[in-house]
Amino acid sequence: MEDTGTIRLGNGNFEFPIIEGTLGEKAIDTRALRAKSGCITYDEGYGNTGSCLSKITFINGEKGILKHRGYSIEDLAKNSTFLETAMLIIYGDLPNQENLETFLQKIRSHASIHTSMNGHFDSFPSAAHPMAILSSMLNSLGAYHPEMSTNNREEDLAHFDETAVILISKVRAIAAMTYRMKMGMPFIPPADTSYTSNFLHMMFSEPYNEYVDNHGVGKALDLFLMLHADHEQNCSTSTVRMVASGGANLFASVSAGVSALWGPSHGGANMAVIKMLEEIHASGDDGSKFIEAAKKGEAKLMGFGHRVYKNYDPRAKILGKSSESILGSMGMNDPLLEIARKLEQSALKDDYFINRKLYPNVDFYSGIILKAIGIPVDMFTVMFALGRMPGWIANWKEIAENPKSRIHRPRQIYIGETERSYVPVNKR
Ligand code: CMC
Repeated sequence: MEDTGTIRLGNGNFEFPIIEGTLGEKAIDTRALRAKSGCITYDEGYGNTGSCLSKITFINGEKGILKHRGYSIEDLAKNSTFLETAMLIIYGDLPNQENLETFLQKIRSHASIHTSMNGHFDSFPSAAHPMAILSSMLNSLGAYHPEMSTNNREEDLAHFDETAVILISKVRAIAAMTYRMKMGMPFIPPADTSYTSNFLHMMFSEPYNEYVDNHGVGKALDLFLMLHADHEQNCSTSTVRMVASGGANLFASVSAGVSALWGPSHGGANMAVIKMLEEIHASGDDGSKFIEAAKKGEAKLMGFGHRVYKNYDPRAKILGKSSESILGSMGMNDPLLEIARKLEQSALKDDYFINRKLYPNVDFYSGIILKAIGIPVDMFTVMFALGRMPGWIANWKEIAENPKSRIHRPRQIYIGETERSYVPVNKR
């Protein structure tokens, strides 16, 4: 017998099906609530709202578990690569050797952007934020592929494989070109190397001086990107799904995702963490004063806390170790890492953080890695976007391929004025 749940409203009892996920998560399916009872659910911030059924990513926030398509993040971090994991996230299974090779080859063949797009960079002031540029350029990219951005589901899906590869590959060139434009440096054409080596080359090579990675920077970057590849219904992914639900094409949807990611409560936190650590360092504090300020509500410990994780974010654990190993292999001693460790230790034994279940999240250590690699702070959230691209693409696909998917259109409770009559301007 199907499990049901009953909601009692006044004298009425209303029954609704209980849905259970493959890993035991339960939800009461209230889609018919308003039709049956006249009531809607109110859940500002969506803390209790399942907006979709998805097969891509599973999180158990209480236990600190993250899985993509059934594979734990620890397993993938140890054994896989960013692009292999991207295929897993997008297509549902780990690819065989041949499919992986074909995918990598396609990524290589789409490494540069149309030369006419170079001119777009000239129209941005050098003070423009890289996330503003990235969002605009991704939407513009769709204009260069009109057959893939028709807003006709069938046609856009017919080109899906190529669109996905174009986005994953070209977002990297756009990121590197954004950095170089802002620095007033010439663009560097792509080379025929791995995903991250090519990114580092386009970022840091000079026409007269090839970037050489002697310290495993490419590998650390690959891990960083993989750990950001998807994270179920976060703010930007939900935005992508929202935009996709209206029938918008993949370019437009991920461009909206970039805008959503930009905010400091979401992806922008990776920039905010480094700024916070630098300020603590410059003030001579070892972190103790900052912790006290956070407890009084005078500051926020950036890179801490999460809507879903009420335990250690497993990605933060991996990135904490990775930040130590990349600094070690580069022979660097960043005082910010010491401050971060001190903040973490203090917070983890402080009642304020314990009671609220606040732990380090993915953004806490990632900036230390990016800083060591030489990525400027205002590019940090762009790096997050590079990593999150496969997740946005997979979520767009899930919406687009579902013949039953409906436009996302939440309701609201109106609390404004009730009835007013227009008063001419000279009488107000
Ligand atoms: N420092 C100090 N106090 C905090 C923090 C923090 N980082 N995060 C939450 N709290 C407190 C908050 O003030 C509230 O206290 P009280 O119950 O006394 O009012 C309590 O903890 C619950 O917090 P909340 O704001 O209701 O939690 P939320 O689920 O709405 O917000 C969050 C989650 C991630 C936006 C928030 O923890 C935060 O702003 N953290 C810092 C920014 C950050 O690191 N963002 C990255 C998130 S992970 C990656 C990503 O999504 O991009």
